Amino acid sequence: MESFVHLRKGKTPKRIHADLDGLKDDELGRGGFVGRTANMYRRNDPTAYRTVGPLRPTDVLSSELKPADATDAQGGPLLMFSNADCQVLLSRRSEPMPFFVRYVDGDLLLFSHKGSGLLETEFGPLPYREGDWVYLPKACTFRQVPATESTWLMIQATDEFRVPPAGTLGRHFPFDPAQVTIPEPFPIDDDGRDEYEVRLYHEGGPTSLFYQHHPLDVEGWRGDNFPFTFNIEDYTVITSESVHLPPTVHLFMQATGVYVMNFLPKPAESVPGTERTPWYHRNVDYDEIAFFHAGSLYGIPMPPGLISHAPQGVHHGAPEKARERARRKFDEYDRVDWSVIAIDTRRRLVPSAEILANDLGQH
Ligand SMILES: [Fe+2]
Repeated sequence: MESFVHLRKGKTPKRIHADLDGLKDDELGRGGFVGRTANMYRRNDPTAYRTVGPLRPTDVLSSELKPADATDAQGGPLLMFSNADCQVLLSRRSEPMPFFVRYVDGDLLLFSHKGSGLLETEFGPLPYREGDWVYLPKACTFRQVPATESTWLMIQATDEFRVPPAGTLGRHFPFDPAQVTIPEPFPIDDDGRDEYEVRLYHEGGPTSLFYQHHPLDVEGWRGDNFPFTFNIEDYTVITSESVHLPPTVHLFMQATGVYVMNFLPKPAESVPGTERTPWYHRNVDYDEIAFFHAGSLYGIPMPPGLISHAPQGVHHGAPEKARERARRKFDEYDRVDWSVIAIDTRRRLVPSAEILANDLGQH
């Protein structure tokens, strides 16, 4: 943040995101929430608009979507959003994959929303359960064997996912890499079939490779490029008593143009007058996806599996009614118990036809 001066003009509360006195707090900020910023105090709700044209927020219940793998073991996940840096997909598989798979266009980061099971990988078996993040390096061969129907939010980046720089928090960063689960080698014997299909998912694909031996035949491995799981229960949430912190403090992993965050249960801000609901904004440099995993906001349940897309430059934020309620119930609640997964992308995301067809039409 290169500016030295932070101006104050007209009617502004003394504290940031607090004591609004009926005004609407609207942030016009660059670089997500870490660049130059103007907080504007408006008379009216900036999300009270109707849209004409393609840039509009969409809200979809993922349970209404029908990925091919939900009904056909041979099927694949459903594309929900894409740009040049990433694809966001949905999988809902209950049958074991009858093939092995590699995502060869980039690293894969998937969030286990529902269900449990096993990933057989080249590096060894990796069990997964609800709340797990699963990281699979680009072109890693694996096979999903669900124990129960498993809903995954999947992000394929065209670049590598990396742990963000820890900055001033050092090893107290919310993501403790010592808490990941890493597979142990477990070579699998041939089972007598003629061929083993390894399906390569890629742009213009798929392509299948057929081996006459079991592709998960690794006796041992060494190095620093491997799959792992990390459960959101093990994420350390950073909090403040007097300001609702920006989403960037909850950054979990990142790839070029793609930032993945965990918004998890935490104590609510306690200093009177503090706004506990994220302020209105139009995140001008990032598209945002929020995936509601579980929980509620001050007693109002959030629909599990709801996926919301807010295009960059278009105002969004919790409804005014929810803000008023949060202020009214300030003394009644001392915690936020939401679990929301957020994906911010530098380039515009294009919603797929299935997303547009299932938009709840709230805008
Ligand atoms: Fe946002």
